[in-house]
Amino acid sequence: MTALLEVSDLKVRFESDNAIVHAVNGINLTVDMGKAVAIVGESGSGKSTVMMAVMRLLHGNARVEGKVLLEGTDLLQLPEKAMQKVRGKDIAMIFQNPSAYLNPTKTIGQQMIEPLLYHHLASAAKAREKAVELLDRVGIPDPEQRLNNYPFELSGGQLQRVMIGMALMADPKLLIADEPTTALDVTVQAEVLILLKRLQRERGMGMVFITHDLAVAAQVADEIYVMYGGLVMEHLAARDLVTGHVHPYLCGLIRSIPRIDGPRADLPYIPGQPVQTAGGLPPGCVFADRCDRRFDRCAERPPLMEVGPGHRASCWLVEAGVAK
Ligand SMILES: Nc1ncnc2c1ncn2[C@@H]1O[C@H](COP(=O)(O)OP(=O)(O)O)[C@@H](O)[C@H]1O
Ligand SMILES: [Mg+2]
Repeated sequence: MTALLEVSDLKVRFESDNAIVHAVNGINLTVDMGKAVAIVGESGSGKSTVMMAVMRLLHGNARVEGKVLLEGTDLLQLPEKAMQKVRGKDIAMIFQNPSAYLNPTKTIGQQMIEPLLYHHLASAAKAREKAVELLDRVGIPDPEQRLNNYPFELSGGQLQRVMIGMALMADPKLLIADEPTTALDVTVQAEVLILLKRLQRERGMGMVFITHDLAVAAQVADEIYVMYGGLVMEHLAARDLVTGHVHPYLCGLIRSIPRIDGPRADLPYIPGQPVQTAGGLPPGCVFADRCDRRFDRCAERPPLMEVGPGHRASCWLVEAGVAK
């Protein structure tokens, strides 16, 4: 069966006057129809760059290599005009800060309806009907009235709900959500996550959910990809995250999740700084200099090795049979 999205050996470099940033260094990622995949990692690990490359929205200083197959078609080879159709119909994106992506001078209704008209996906009447229905689905009271509101008239949580509704207008096959709840209060965040998960399941959409928060990833996703230095360190089922993970990087991240009942003073963390990808990756394992389990073998870069079905990790401890 063809996957909905299949990213293979994706590499992205940013070229500037004084340095080349090796942001993404050979990523493989698959999203099946109806499945939710989370990409997790510290800030700067290359999460957003992967999905911006998929959408072909990176700036001109980006050099992209690899394949991005959407139902078998390589998006990286499409003419820009065809790509615009993909962005208007097949793949929708939502971001951390909805107010940055909404036009302050247009009503919510205009912004929900116009893209459908532009891409000839519905009549004006049908598009309006759909906007009302979707605002209702995402929990906006009085949807008919809200269509006439401007973005500044809604709260942050409501705006993120509107963005979700807007993203669903064209019935996308794939929804990409980049830290969509990071800017929200904790309680609102939980509500929005539950809503997203429910809509994704009901509609059988694929979803890629980007977050720096492991707990959020475990809550929304079926599968988790853990990124570091533009590489996948571990790929596993969300249900195996806490008890089944093997990579020392993931061990460190999980240890550093604050526990509500734990001693505040002893919060563990991963010592050292995230690997710098400006000027190229260090030789060997990219996590080695922060790893408390490194050994001779780590001077060579480990490939992703199979730990079990649907579970892979880039760590020589797997080969040595002593992971975890
Ligand atoms: N336009 C750009 N020019 C140069 N470097 C960039 C650009 N965009 C991102 N980067 C760099 O690429 C790396 C990955 O960034 P990003 O994908 O935004 O990480 P994340 O989303 O995981 O926080 C970072 O080192 C970042 O500084
Ligand atoms: Mg990001």
